[in-house]
Amino acid sequence: MKLIRVENYKEMSSKAAQLVEQQILDNPHSVLGLATGSTPLGLYEQLIQGVSERGISYRHVQTINLDEYQGLSGDHPNSYRHFMNEKLLGHIDVSLENTHIPSGKSLPVEAECQRYEALIDKIGPPHLQMLGMGTNGHIGFNEPGTLETSLTHCVKLEASTRSSNARFFSDRDSVPTHAITMGIQSILKSEQILVLASGKKKAQAVKRFLEGHTSKDFPASFLWKHNHVTLIVDSDAYSLAAAEEE
Ligand code: F6R
Repeated sequence: MKLIRVENYKEMSSKAAQLVEQQILDNPHSVLGLATGSTPLGLYEQLIQGVSERGISYRHVQTINLDEYQGLSGDHPNSYRHFMNEKLLGHIDVSLENTHIPSGKSLPVEAECQRYEALIDKIGPPHLQMLGMGTNGHIGFNEPGTLETSLTHCVKLEASTRSSNARFFSDRDSVPTHAITMGIQSILKSEQILVLASGKKKAQAVKRFLEGHTSKDFPASFLWKHNHVTLIVDSDAYSLAAAEEE
């Protein structure tokens, strides 16, 4: 695992953008694995700027997102499809038909999960998968207890995850109870994985991650089984790990 320490959120976003853009310059037909949440917002802003300022083109790029709320259609303002179109995909020159997110409305949900996993195998796996980390160590919506062998599946969201995501909804009860997520095994199929963590609220999770003990109680720890993971962490998110070093 490669650790890149930076000062703050802005630097984390710039460093991540450099790595993503290099990937696209190296292979214009790259498949990118994308995440939602607050963490990658600065990265996405930089990638949007990169199109006009650095001539980066996503014309041949395909994207595969990690997860989607179950029950929300793509045009629902809280769906991850809507989020991605607003925050990145609608502002770069990618063809929207080359951008993939599980459908929150397809039934039966098991069939949608199988379709999505088959899609990952067909057009992917991602050359570069971006990940944020939950305060409980979740990656995608793989909550503590998820098996390392998990493929794309439907999950019941933990109360802590629903509370944390309630900031995007009118109230906590509107947060869907279930989601479709790429599994741990699906994520580990990626060629390279880029994990971003910023802010004091991630400090405990970063400290635990860096201890390097693999456990299903802390899903991000399964990333230690992959041989090409880069963690970009800012000084607040690294603060508890740093205290340990002293
Ligand atoms: C997002 C996702 C989640 C988030 C995680 C961190 O698609 O699957 O695992 O990456 O919850 O969220 P933020 O970035 O909001 O702290």
